[in-house]
Amino acid sequence: MLNKNLIDLEDLSTAQIDKLIRKAKKIKQSPADYRHTCDGKILATLFYEPSTRTQMSFQTAMLKLGGRTIGFDNPMNSSVSKGESLKDTITIVSGYADVIAIRHPIEGTAKASSLYADVPLINCGDGGHLHPTQTLTDIVTLSCEKGRLDNLKIGVCGDLLNGRTVHSLIKTLAKYENNSFVLISTPELSVPLYIIDILEKNHCKYEVSHSLADAISDLDMLYMTRIQRERFKSEEEYQSQKDVFVLDKQKLSAARDDMIILHPLPRVNEITVDIDDDPRALYFKQALYGMYGRMALILMLLQDEDFLIYPRESTLCPTRCSNPKCITQTESYLPNLSYEKLGMTMCEYCDKRCQ
Ligand code: NCD
Repeated sequence: MLNKNLIDLEDLSTAQIDKLIRKAKKIKQSPADYRHTCDGKILATLFYEPSTRTQMSFQTAMLKLGGRTIGFDNPMNSSVSKGESLKDTITIVSGYADVIAIRHPIEGTAKASSLYADVPLINCGDGGHLHPTQTLTDIVTLSCEKGRLDNLKIGVCGDLLNGRTVHSLIKTLAKYENNSFVLISTPELSVPLYIIDILEKNHCKYEVSHSLADAISDLDMLYMTRIQRERFKSEEEYQSQKDVFVLDKQKLSAARDDMIILHPLPRVNEITVDIDDDPRALYFKQALYGMYGRMALILMLLQDEDFLIYPRESTLCPTRCSNPKCITQTESYLPNLSYEKLGMTMCEYCDKRCQ
């Protein structure tokens, strides 16, 4: 298997993550030095789900490195609409492109795609599961703006159940020394259990809060997120959850002067517009840092022979994953792959416990 796929930042050591951040900073400092580093290379962006920042920043990143891009942002304009399998699409695109960036509404799709890709493949979001390059964006921002990735008190607020950016962010920051987390959500939208397991395994302090006003006062960073409307079973359920947590001027007045506010965007109502001019509001700047992070990632995957990514060991499992949102439910040819964690058998694609 090609050891160049970014499915989950968990597969990278902190030394590799730090290397990526250093590279992103260097590129930001002198972008002209990198103008021809990917001459002749092609990035394919396969976006089966809507996107503004992730897709465009990947495309811009490749163009700024001298490469070119192909792809689709509406699968209905591709052979997917004729019933083509993921396996076949990936096999074909692997022959056209040097690197593939994929976003898909179903959990575990990136891992599944990587089984059939002969070129590096990057997870740009797989359902409500993970979004490692958003995390790359977030940690480049943190490193540049706070100067560190450790010793931070981090508040994450909003849809912690379905927000893939939150899952990737917590998993990554849990690897760094002495970070603690305040998980701010309604009981219905609290983080999945496997994320709590990771916090406990890494001996991270965490608390659960149902009040943004109570939690905000001693945070180093507040990570706001959108309620993920498209992941709800019904519109009523979404309506009951939307606008529960809104960061406004009044709540922000209780925060420290050096607390930074990040948001993966798009914003709906969860941050009032009058906060945008506050120096602590970094979410627009964050989107720009993301482009440098993605330039660094493309370079590492295409040019750095030492930058190898070793996924955890998985084995063939006799039973199929029972998560209805897992890619194994729709792509029938996929092998049943699992791994062991804390004595439990977990699905290799979606990280849910195999029954
Ligand atoms: C996020 C995503 O797609 O998960 N957006 C992004 O990539 N910046 C967050 C979201 O859609 O709420």
